[in-house]
Amino acid sequence: MKRTRWGILGTGTIATKFALGLRAADNAELRAVGSRSEATAEAFAREHGAARAHASYEALAIDPEVDAIYIATPHVLHRENTLSCIAGGKAVLCEKPFAMNASEGEEMVAAARSAGTFLCEAMWTRFLPATRRVQELINTGVIGEPRQLECDFGFRTELDPRGRLFDPALGGGALLDVGIYCVAYARMVFGGAPAEVHSSAHIGETGVDEQSAYLFRYDSGALARMSSATRTETAHRATIWGTEGSIEVPHFWQAQELLVNGERERHPYEGNGYTHEAVAVGEALATGARECAEVPLDETLEIARTLDQLRAQWGLRYPADGVDS
Ligand SMILES: NC(=O)c1ccc[n+]([C@@H]2O[C@H](COP(=O)([O-])OP(=O)(O)OC[C@H]3O[C@@H](n4cnc5c(N)ncnc54)[C@H](OP(=O)(O)O)[C@@H]3O)[C@@H](O)[C@H]2O)c1
Repeated sequence: MKRTRWGILGTGTIATKFALGLRAADNAELRAVGSRSEATAEAFAREHGAARAHASYEALAIDPEVDAIYIATPHVLHRENTLSCIAGGKAVLCEKPFAMNASEGEEMVAAARSAGTFLCEAMWTRFLPATRRVQELINTGVIGEPRQLECDFGFRTELDPRGRLFDPALGGGALLDVGIYCVAYARMVFGGAPAEVHSSAHIGETGVDEQSAYLFRYDSGALARMSSATRTETAHRATIWGTEGSIEVPHFWQAQELLVNGERERHPYEGNGYTHEAVAVGEALATGARECAEVPLDETLEIARTLDQLRAQWGLRYPADGVDS
């Protein structure tokens, strides 16, 4: 089996988790890392067994020994980092949120399609065995037609005005950090964009959403009720009610078990959970595919448009949105 030679761009929290996830992926190896600092790149490479450490993201993007790059920088850098890796001819798995807004996302997708390179948003939840099982249960009609979804993702962290969760310049706010999991879950359950979007948000002292609730109505009459927060811990549960049953998914974004019509099912991870997205990207690359079937680019863009719609309702704009868009 040909192993995908991975590079990791950025060395923070999620970069570390992905590097650990790669260890359990049979079709992958960590070949290189890129950081803004040489010392950090070298320390990360040593810790995770990468042969090559680059003192800039640009050097990683053109490393001839790397096939695919995982982008693990703050949201505001996803566009720039992705475009530079595509220009370097690399396959790209870019952390969520894919981009700051749909317009950036469209530019990234157009660049990959024009270059003929692979691109995917790292919506890791979609690759988990438990999530695949939810999709299978829906597709085979086990709960009938899905009519309602309730889904929340709120956590409590201390207010840090300069941290990436609160600083508008770094794309702070609960929606882009964790609400996106709810919006993506609704997209998976109902298979399309909502016909109507209603919402309300509390914008905190740093100017970003600290909590919000949103309600989607679909053309079929189905409803999704969702919320996200960075200053309030909530249940992290998804519940889907269909015409003939229900699926409850505790900790839905990192799920390892489900309750299907009240019956418990276990669907453990391989590795630390991030292994699954790495394996799927390697499998897609082996077939010559330019995107992942689990997270198609058009779906990523549709979700980005829904996120834009929510922020527009709150008057929440980031520098990346520009003056007129
Ligand atoms: N899928 C998931 O479960 C999950 C979980 C957490 C986060 N994420 C996503 O992953 C991305 C990174 O989140 P994280 O929690 O890993 O962030 P983090 O711990 O702050 O790490 C971000 C890394 O990006 C680089 N960076 C470049 N410019 C930076 C800047 N101005 N400020 C801070 N870091 C900068 C740094 O690496 P160098 O110093 O090496 O350049 C830093 O270590 C976010 O988009 C987030 O939404 C996904």
